[in-house]
Amino acid sequence: MTTQTIAFLNDAFLPIEEAHLSPLDRGFTFGDGVYEVIPVYNGRSFCLDAHLDRLNQSLNSIRMQPPYSHEKWTHILDTLVKKNGAGDQWIYVQVTRGIEPKREHQFPTQVIPTIFAVSYPKVYLTKAEQAKGIRVTAVTDIRWKLCHIKTASRLAYVLMNQEAKEAGFDEGIIMNTGYALEGTISNLFIVRHGVIYTPPKSTQLLHGITRDYILGLAEQHKIPYRESKISERDLLKADEMWITASTRPISPVIEFNGHTIGNGKAGPMWDRLWDLYAGQVNNLSMSVSN
Ligand code: PDD
Repeated sequence: MTTQTIAFLNDAFLPIEEAHLSPLDRGFTFGDGVYEVIPVYNGRSFCLDAHLDRLNQSLNSIRMQPPYSHEKWTHILDTLVKKNGAGDQWIYVQVTRGIEPKREHQFPTQVIPTIFAVSYPKVYLTKAEQAKGIRVTAVTDIRWKLCHIKTASRLAYVLMNQEAKEAGFDEGIIMNTGYALEGTISNLFIVRHGVIYTPPKSTQLLHGITRDYILGLAEQHKIPYRESKISERDLLKADEMWITASTRPISPVIEFNGHTIGNGKAGPMWDRLWDLYAGQVNNLSMSVSN
């Protein structure tokens, strides 16, 4: 097995050190592009079609043509994962509006997109490790108005995440006019009296693949859930709180802004959803540890 990370750049596989981009790429100068992060368990990508659908939606939203079919992407990404040794990994995909010789803001007349992907080994946390829980704080929403697009322009998220980390927390919960929207790198759920709540889809938050997957599991197992606005008061009264993301599927939150959530431990609904999620992963002969 090679220890060298292999990347995919504009139709070629090559060592990451040899994957060079022009400084005139609009992804670099304007953050003019979109991306995806896809989990891989035991050599197999999880929810790949949903990630590719969202990639295409992001591209459509920024008025770019999807460069490849799902079939072609699947072949490229499977090959990439194999070249990087299979096992548990995460894949990063980025598509930008290509090179712009004179830094004009308007789109080039002929767009040749830059298409990049790379995958890295990943040690996914076990259930016992996740159960320890994380601490989060509120951060003020400083983003633009199209937060459903998974844009490569991540500066607002970087700044809000840094603010939370510098204050000693694991994640920041983005608050806008008294309502919680999502984390800086995750979606948000709370549980109250046996019902799961998550903010409804809108242009104010990313429509997380893990979020949808968990709601699908709740639906399938007849666990009551609602997509509704979550106020700061709701957060403080929650019996459980979790954040979700592809790279850290369901993390229980045990403290919000110094206030203990529930009894300060991962709750029973988290326990159940974790088992259901891990079960799905294992069913596909994958390896999220229990
Ligand atoms: N981010 N909301 C935001 C702002 C995010 O950045 C992410 C994930 C999510 C969760 O989406 P999903 O379930 O599809 O991973 C929600 C990724 C992991 C990242 O940028 O690294």
